[in-house]
Amino acid sequence: MGRTAKRQSIHPARSTATWPRDFIWGISSSSFQIEGATREDGRGLSIWDTFCAAGRVANHDTGDIACDHYHRYAEDVALMKRLGVKAYRFSVAWPRLLPEGRGSANEAGLAFYDRLIDALLKARIEPWLCLYHWDLPQALDDLGGWTVRDAAGWFADYAMLVASRYGDRVKRFATFNEPSVFTLFGYGFGDSAPGISGPIMLRRAIHNVNLAHGAAVDVIGALVPDALIGAIHNYQPCLPATPADVEAAELFGAYWNSAFPEPQCLGTYPSRLAGVMEPYVQAGDLARICRPVDWFGLNHYSPIYAKANPDAPLGFTFGGAPADLSHTPMGWPIHPESFHDALVEVSARYRLPIYVLENGFGGDDKPDASGDIADTARIDYLKCYIEAMHEAIANGADVRGYFIWSLLDNFEWGSGYGTRFGLVYVDYPTQKRIPKASFNWYADLIKSARAVDGERSTVGDAFKPR
Ligand code: FCB
Repeated sequence: MGRTAKRQSIHPARSTATWPRDFIWGISSSSFQIEGATREDGRGLSIWDTFCAAGRVANHDTGDIACDHYHRYAEDVALMKRLGVKAYRFSVAWPRLLPEGRGSANEAGLAFYDRLIDALLKARIEPWLCLYHWDLPQALDDLGGWTVRDAAGWFADYAMLVASRYGDRVKRFATFNEPSVFTLFGYGFGDSAPGISGPIMLRRAIHNVNLAHGAAVDVIGALVPDALIGAIHNYQPCLPATPADVEAAELFGAYWNSAFPEPQCLGTYPSRLAGVMEPYVQAGDLARICRPVDWFGLNHYSPIYAKANPDAPLGFTFGGAPADLSHTPMGWPIHPESFHDALVEVSARYRLPIYVLENGFGGDDKPDASGDIADTARIDYLKCYIEAMHEAIANGADVRGYFIWSLLDNFEWGSGYGTRFGLVYVDYPTQKRIPKASFNWYADLIKSARAVDGERSTVGDAFKPR
């Protein structure tokens, strides 16, 4: 598939298209972005609380209230039920369970996820639990956070607590969400929490997160023998912004797409990074990192355009996308062909069942005079991306599920509440939830896709477990 021109060769999603048998339609969120209650019931602080308090987020926004999901989770589960999703991917806030990151557990925090998980199961929605979505306990960051090797042990102990508490009801576990994003932005570029920049800290963080992943896979596997364990990677083709940026794009791509899945699934660092990672790799580390996983979580929004910049901490930065490529209001290029290519490539390379655990559209939705939110641009985006996924499946990609980011508008990291990704609009001053047009559209798609699945599943027949 071509990657440069603005093409609409991929047709909008035919909801009546056939999908693999048992294909999972889901929805995703993360703790810090929706929970709020950051100082309630004994929760400790995370690096994002600190980053927000330092005024580093647009509009000086913080996660203090967010979507108040901590108190309104029952209403949110009811919305998911109405949507018809089979699964909900959420993350657990490490500082809510272990306010100091290690040591004594906080029973009130543990009880919150008990309530959430029980409500999901009652609504017949499968909980997909991710251990880490960027909210490292501040107390651990004070000890060096991901830049120190001890972090792997802290994470394994936290995984043990989570698996032993929830493993009777939760069977889908992810270790990390988007390790490339939180290490690159937090320790490389330095423009997200904890705000450190430069190649040395980045490489240390990469290796320690990889070690933590391997240790957690072992711990969860031992405590929950029927668990299905994976990690969630943001996989986006990295393309040169200009012909002079080919090197920069390769290096950016190695950090973004390969620094985690390759050691975790293949047991090696990508050749582009092997030399620079060598000082951190001790004997036996790659075997510790490469533990058997059951699935590959893939997040994708857009291709990346890279630019060489010798003055930047890593020697590269984001570059501009071709002018003829349309983009979302937050400037992310729209190119469903890249999604297709990502799915086909990842399936061929790692030979694991893929679950798309994030895909979505960030906009600046507002209710119209009658209070409705007609987010047609989001629907158009989702249609084209879902169709691209359908084509990828037809072309051999083993994709078993698709989760939209996100149920609710929420705290979008450095952009604060200025960017809205939800299928449900959140009126932050009142916390009123208003389903957008895309909510009804997704509900219809799930319903019709299930109906077809019930009759026959031509695509599914082409799938044999590898
Ligand atoms: C992903 C993050 C998620 C959300 C979306 C828009 O990179 O995992 O938390 O911010 O982008």
